[in-house]
Amino acid sequence: MGKIFVEGVGEVQEYVDVCDYAVGLSRMIGGPILPSERPGHALIEQWNPVGLVGIITAFNFPVAVYGWNSAIAMICGNACLWKGAPTTSLVSVAVTKIIAKVLEDNKLPGAICSLVCGGADIGTAMARDERMDLLSFTGSTKVGKQVALMVQERFGRSLLELGGNNAIIVFEDADLNLVIPSALFAAVGTAGQRCTTARRLFLHESIHDEVVAKLAKAYAQVRIGDPWDSDTLYGPLHTKEAVKMFLDAVEQAKQQGGSVVCGGKVINRPGNYVEPTIVTGLPHNAPIVHTETFAPILYVLKFKEEEEVFAWNNEVKQGLSSSIFTKDLGRIFRWLGPKGSDCGIVNVNIPTSGAEIGGAFGGEKHTGGGRESGSDSWKLYMRRSTCTINYSKDLPLAQGIKFQ
Ligand code: UN1
Repeated sequence: MGKIFVEGVGEVQEYVDVCDYAVGLSRMIGGPILPSERPGHALIEQWNPVGLVGIITAFNFPVAVYGWNSAIAMICGNACLWKGAPTTSLVSVAVTKIIAKVLEDNKLPGAICSLVCGGADIGTAMARDERMDLLSFTGSTKVGKQVALMVQERFGRSLLELGGNNAIIVFEDADLNLVIPSALFAAVGTAGQRCTTARRLFLHESIHDEVVAKLAKAYAQVRIGDPWDSDTLYGPLHTKEAVKMFLDAVEQAKQQGGSVVCGGKVINRPGNYVEPTIVTGLPHNAPIVHTETFAPILYVLKFKEEEEVFAWNNEVKQGLSSSIFTKDLGRIFRWLGPKGSDCGIVNVNIPTSGAEIGGAFGGEKHTGGGRESGSDSWKLYMRRSTCTINYSKDLPLAQGIKFQ
């Protein structure tokens, strides 16, 4: 998809990690035995596979996101049908061949993990098909909403991993030695094409100018080049369409009062290269700041108080990832608590992107509410039965009802 070599390797590592995780998890999933109110009765939860899991993934993580879904789906006892992005089908074919070999070497049908390649017509067919017990969709909020409505129409189950508009908040006591590389990785990494990319950087007014100057210096040193070169930090955007969206967003940012501190232009070389861009001076609620543009544009915004900036973090439609930089313990716990970040991923002193597989990955509001990968995300790939077993010779009814 155009990401740099080390990030590509990192993405495959993410798949390997989730496979390790899933193998261990396969011995640990299960339900509780609950106390029954009735003598001689047992109350247990039994988890069973849903059956077939449809997995639709996006271009930006053509390996890892399928890994999260398929590894967990398989240890839950499901079969998978995958549709990758139409622009990354070679990756989908390569991954499917590797999995088929592993399955067949273990005397299982390769078709447990099947693949279809195609566009929106295939996605629609999957969303509408009653046989698709769970449909896990990663992609834009706009398409995700259509998918969710089609799946809901047949009372199917969907797991949505949609857009983000992630913020980093830097307080006056932050360690700037952590802030600059974090903001750089989160905003410029993968050329701004992660759902976890930092798009808004809130700086306390007392450190605003210093951080902008340091960040602009760091941006100037980003090694732009061929993604295959091990030295390159920043490669091209995925498509020509993305370049157009980048230019449109920069234009709108200027019209809405922003100043381009660095970047803002297309780079004159073959491929879809654009300059990593910093825009300052916009109000926190400018329409473009509230829009997720899948490109490396960072809006830098000034704040005074904790309360206002926590509210600004939460005022966008999406709720995926968020980070603060501070040493204040009280502030850290307010950030994690009910009046803090409303996102699915809530970080302290690390970037918004680059989550580990062991946690549940996903976000609230227009991000879709789904959780993939670690923690108890496996529950979404299974159906739960509450089972009550009477091992006595009497028939006491619950709630003490006497029906005689
Ligand atoms: C995505 O952009 O869809 O947390 C997934 C991260 C990666 C996954 C991103 N581990 O940035």
